[in-house]
Amino acid sequence: MGSINASVDFRRDGETAVVIVDNPPVNALKHEVRAGLVEALRRGHDDTAVKGIVIACAGRTFFAGAEITEFGKPPQAPSLHDVIAAIEAMQKPVVAALHGTALGGGFELALACHFRVAASGTRVGLPEVKLGLLPGAGGTQRLPRLIGPEKALKMIVTGDPIGAPEALSAGIVDEITEGDLTNAAISFARRVIAEGRPLTLVRDRDDKLIGEGFADAAEELTRRLRGREAPAACVEAVRNAIVLPFEEGLKRESELFRRLVAGDQSKAQRHIFFAEREAAKIPDVPGAIKPRPIASAAVIGAGTMGGGIAMCFANAGIPVTLVETSRDLLRKGLDRVTTNYRTTVSRGGLAADEMERRVGLINGVTELDAVGTADVVVEAVFEEMDVKKRVFADLDRIAKPAALLATNTSTLDVNEIALATVRPQDVLGTHFFSPANVMRLLEIVRGAQTSLDALATAVALGRRLGKVPVTVGVCYGFVGNRMLARRSVETERLLLEGALPQEIDAAIARFGFPMGPCGMMDLAGLDVGWRIRQGRGERAVIEDALCEAGHYGQKTGRGYFRYEAGSRTPIPDPEVEKLILETSSRLGINRRPIGEEEIVERMILPMINEGARILEEGIAARPGDIDVIWVYGYGWPVWRGGPMYYADQLGLAHIRDRLTYYADQSRGETLRPAPLLQRLAGQGRGFGS
Ligand SMILES: NC(=O)c1ccc[n+]([C@@H]2O[C@H](COP(=O)([O-])OP(=O)(O)OC[C@H]3O[C@@H](n4cnc5c(N)ncnc54)[C@H](O)[C@@H]3O)[C@@H](O)[C@H]2O)c1
Repeated sequence: MGSINASVDFRRDGETAVVIVDNPPVNALKHEVRAGLVEALRRGHDDTAVKGIVIACAGRTFFAGAEITEFGKPPQAPSLHDVIAAIEAMQKPVVAALHGTALGGGFELALACHFRVAASGTRVGLPEVKLGLLPGAGGTQRLPRLIGPEKALKMIVTGDPIGAPEALSAGIVDEITEGDLTNAAISFARRVIAEGRPLTLVRDRDDKLIGEGFADAAEELTRRLRGREAPAACVEAVRNAIVLPFEEGLKRESELFRRLVAGDQSKAQRHIFFAEREAAKIPDVPGAIKPRPIASAAVIGAGTMGGGIAMCFANAGIPVTLVETSRDLLRKGLDRVTTNYRTTVSRGGLAADEMERRVGLINGVTELDAVGTADVVVEAVFEEMDVKKRVFADLDRIAKPAALLATNTSTLDVNEIALATVRPQDVLGTHFFSPANVMRLLEIVRGAQTSLDALATAVALGRRLGKVPVTVGVCYGFVGNRMLARRSVETERLLLEGALPQEIDAAIARFGFPMGPCGMMDLAGLDVGWRIRQGRGERAVIEDALCEAGHYGQKTGRGYFRYEAGSRTPIPDPEVEKLILETSSRLGINRRPIGEEEIVERMILPMINEGARILEEGIAARPGDIDVIWVYGYGWPVWRGGPMYYADQLGLAHIRDRLTYYADQSRGETLRPAPLLQRLAGQGRGFGS
């Protein structure tokens, strides 16, 4: 209990007033905290014995941001602006003592202080753009004055935090300490007082406010992020910092913030923010269930996925045994891992000694017996049921009791794999996405007999690996790929009816995906789906014909598009066009021009329809889970909030009618609106409401 209110403590240390805020877990700047800070500053102001003030936080971090649940609600005074005004009105030095993650409103508060002292591991940043917002408490006006508009723009538009050393060299923090932070901040305040250092506020500085470099950076960003409201508003606000007086810039920032917070894009992004947190909770798994401890791991198969999964463990500091069938394949797998790490090091994303440490955590072997001590085993061998069953039967014999046994299968029945063991309660799917060390999504596939604590362990492990885990049920393709398959069917139909790959991809890119379905297939490899179809006795006329012609995608320099050597830029391929036209004609289809609106509808609505079936079958627990899967696994534009959220914005009755229209047109029965969609549309409801 603090001396001012439950969250804020005020004490004296000699001539320095020390204000400590304690609002676990991340010291969000909720109303009580703001009120306590204003009162503490008033006391510091009124007490003539106080010569300087330190603002610090208890727990694991300085203020990590605003209280997000207060967004979009009527503001309750004092606002963060009021707190900042009180800081800037002080005639005594105010020193912010930063540790943990000083983010968003927390960082903006620190920017209003006269000085900033940071613990060595601190990270500072303005991540508002990730919620479709801009820093609304002066960040866009103060940061450019402190470090120059170009650097500020980068921090504000990417939303990525920077570490204390970089913050020190940029001039954001005045001192870094390895010792006790509060004491260091108190000493710093004393020195400032003793030396009579001038108290210049960031708002009054203009020596760094030169537009050089800003215009080019702004133009580039504006082009790249077209259609996204928040980054555009960030650019405008930082430009205002250069061209408008401070107060005027601040006023414009508030207006922009208000517009964004009420806008559709930010609402969608905040939906994803909450859906991601919700996804970590599994409805029927009580919070009290303890995950099993995981101190070591094993991965079977050092191919494309196995190597990436081993990297995930090493990146999280978990020692991992990587098993292959021969020394030669093992060497190749380990070499791929090292090359991956080297690329990151050469791009400045990882220190060389840290790379060594991580590589050192991966122990390559060719004997399966070596997995006997692992707490979790992830199988990533060929996608063949017999091979997987053999591996799991062996694991049953070798793995220690209560080890988590996970398969990375993308299509096979996890229940059948589990029955190759006598401990199906410990078996589940961990469906990583490629490249496994990069992609954030992790579908956790819950088998019929998977125990609750095995499930809780997988979710906790996923988070530890820096992934976004979402629990799904067993079915062909789980959630993400099952919906993707609907899009693939429509891609093929559109190609046959009149569209070309570049038209489809351009429409989907304009919708907001980083790449269209044809470019994505080229990246993943067309041959993968071809083999799966062959195994299942299915056909996709155009894609099969492309594969038969040796067009496997980027790996062969040709797929739906052509690729110059060493380039990933898709170039329309006249031969592919010819192949498509011939196929249409062979099937007696009269090609017609297909507009962008139809392309987008036919790509997106069938996926939503499949999402409805997935919800009805209980394969996904919540519509938000599906949204998270599509945003983190497939590049769904986050500012459109995921497919099910988007569906609610469009209106389910409209979607039902459009699907019915397309089902009638193409006689594609899978396009008929799913029963859940029909029902909700009839009741005037959405998936999430
Ligand atoms: N590639 C993808 O994009 C992707 C994405 C998600 C899931 N998956 C799934 O991940 C799994 C692996 O896929 P991949 O693309 O990495 O395949 P891959 O062919 O690149 O790698 C499989 C590796 O497993 C090894 N292997 C086979 N049997 C083994 C055994 N008994 N013991 C040890 N090693 C063995 C092979 O030698 C090979 O190196 C598959 O189930 C696949 O469906 C793949």
